[in-house]
Amino acid sequence: MNECRHLAIIMDGNGRWAKAKGMPRTAGHLAGADNVRNIGVAASELGIEYLTLYAFSTENWKRAAEEVSYLMKLPRYLFDKYMKEFMSRGMVIKLIGELDGLPEATRQVLLDAAEESKDNTGMKLVIAINYGSHDEILHAVNRYAADVQAGRARPGLDEAGFEQYLMTKDMPPVDLLIRTSGEQRISNFLLWQIAYAELEFVPEAWPDFTPEVLQRCLAEYQKRDRRFGGVKAE
Ligand code: IPE
Ligand code: IPE
Ligand code: MG
Repeated sequence: MNECRHLAIIMDGNGRWAKAKGMPRTAGHLAGADNVRNIGVAASELGIEYLTLYAFSTENWKRAAEEVSYLMKLPRYLFDKYMKEFMSRGMVIKLIGELDGLPEATRQVLLDAAEESKDNTGMKLVIAINYGSHDEILHAVNRYAADVQAGRARPGLDEAGFEQYLMTKDMPPVDLLIRTSGEQRISNFLLWQIAYAELEFVPEAWPDFTPEVLQRCLAEYQKRDRRFGGVKAE
């Protein structure tokens, strides 16, 4: 039995999903936000400990200003509509990403949700927003260097020590990474944390990624032979 403590999802394909229905890309993002609730609830019912969702990358600022500004309003939509339910299910909202780079209103909505839910004991729903793995690793290195210079840390960092400088500090490594919409790339997501993750690329766009598709992915994950570089005893 492969344990899946940490599931990470690259929620991709909102724009194409909407286009295919003759709707603007933003309609796909709205449907995608509602699906965060559906998959969040399903994952918590399946006993996942950490669900990390890639909501906005450090590269997504390259998009049209109107699309970016729409995406920045979605956290308010999500939490206005579903925070009560997240709370009743005991979920803990956590955040990774460069929050200082977000519009102040967006940042505040996210911080409020994290603060309100911080004493819950259920699934950690981790929102990666203005997140980029290169950015995360560089920040970690720079903070460590500053700590060494100031005498707060010793030279010679080990893996566990380095992880304490990452935004995912105290989270287990990713067990399963799913990307929706058929694209087969990582797009700067959790590069350190997926070192031994199983990868699954599914054709469904994010708004069509139902709890049934999630179950299918977890069943596939169960068939994987995770070796971590070792060799099974004969
Ligand atoms: C994922 O859907 C949402 C974000 C990246 C913010 P996309 O907006 O990337 O949709 P496609 O890939 O263009 O269809
Ligand atoms: C990755 O999707 C980022 C998120 C899902 C938030 P993109 O749609 O931005 O990735 P690329 O540009 O296709 O690699
Ligand atoms: Mg995309």
